[in-house]
Amino acid sequence: MSQANRVVTVTINPAIDQTISIPNFTAGAVNRVRESQMHAGGKGINVAAFLADFGEHATATGILGRANDELFRRLFSEKGIVDRCVRIAGATRIGVKIADTALRQTTDINFPGQTPEPADIARLFAILGELATEHEWFVLSGSIPAGVSAEIYAQMIRLLAGAPAGRAPKVVLDTSGEALRQAVLAGPWLIKPNIDELAELVAERPATAADIVRVARVLMQRHGIASVVVSMGKAGAVFIEGVEAIWATPPAVEVQSTVGAGDAMVAGIVAGKLAGLPLAECARLATAFSVAAIGRIGSGLPSLAAVEAARARVAIRPISDG
Ligand SMILES: Nc1ncnc2c1ncn2[C@@H]1O[C@H](COP(=O)(O)OP(=O)(O)OP(=O)(O)O)[C@@H](O)[C@H]1O
Ligand SMILES: [Mg+2]
Repeated sequence: MSQANRVVTVTINPAIDQTISIPNFTAGAVNRVRESQMHAGGKGINVAAFLADFGEHATATGILGRANDELFRRLFSEKGIVDRCVRIAGATRIGVKIADTALRQTTDINFPGQTPEPADIARLFAILGELATEHEWFVLSGSIPAGVSAEIYAQMIRLLAGAPAGRAPKVVLDTSGEALRQAVLAGPWLIKPNIDELAELVAERPATAADIVRVARVLMQRHGIASVVVSMGKAGAVFIEGVEAIWATPPAVEVQSTVGAGDAMVAGIVAGKLAGLPLAECARLATAFSVAAIGRIGSGLPSLAAVEAARARVAIRPISDG
């Protein structure tokens, strides 16, 4: 575990997640709520929470609505996350997740968020510039608010790459659609698309693990990306770095909520990198984070013991080319 702050997570479109448990949720009928919880969410903020629970110091930046930032402030102080988020006028959007514990599925209802002003974005970039020289890893995660350029992550990657020689941080990118397409052109260090996001990016649906590796290697060579992780829900994830390609499969688990599974995986990858783990062990740890996360509703890891237990049950196998 680190003594210094080594990781910054960036969340430009955070959300407050309201998870409502409704067994056998039915549209067009009266539904009774069994339980309701509100959590400070947003993908980069989730990543910071997972890292903090694992004992890593993290700094969170991005954009928060000033009107309802108490839940975020509470999360940051509880977990010891350094708060460098820009506050903007208005409220952070709320995302309602209807967790159906009987049918084991989640229905999402997403409110639109605030559009940051150009001056807000300029403040965020100034903060990134400040943080760049003192941190080794930047995690850029999630969608882009309405009214903000789809090139914003590409611009951030270029800004971070311009840090003094030898001090440029490594960028981990987890987004989708046009934001992903633009950011890939700027050469992030690692991308973690899920299989659908990858298929959209390369306009082809890889049919086998070897196909995923082939497609990932093209992206790596073309854009100078060092590492690609393609997640596939309960089928696990394929990790490609250098000459290695590994398929990590989670054990069959009781799913409470798959919300944040991808964020947990991203946090686990960064935690593995901070610990200097080889790729296979990084894949094992990242998968264990995701498995621990889906066993609970809420932010962060249920416990370190849950991660350790899951870690032992992840299956790792190399993927051969061709
Ligand atoms: N049903 C499941 N059972 C076991 N493990 C799962 C399940 N769903 C997800 N995972 C684990 O979480 C990882 C990431 O999941 P997934 O591929 O769904 O990410 P994602 O689509 O990016 O999710 P997110 O909505 O959080 O962005 C998987 O690689 C796997 O290890
Ligand atoms: Mg995802």
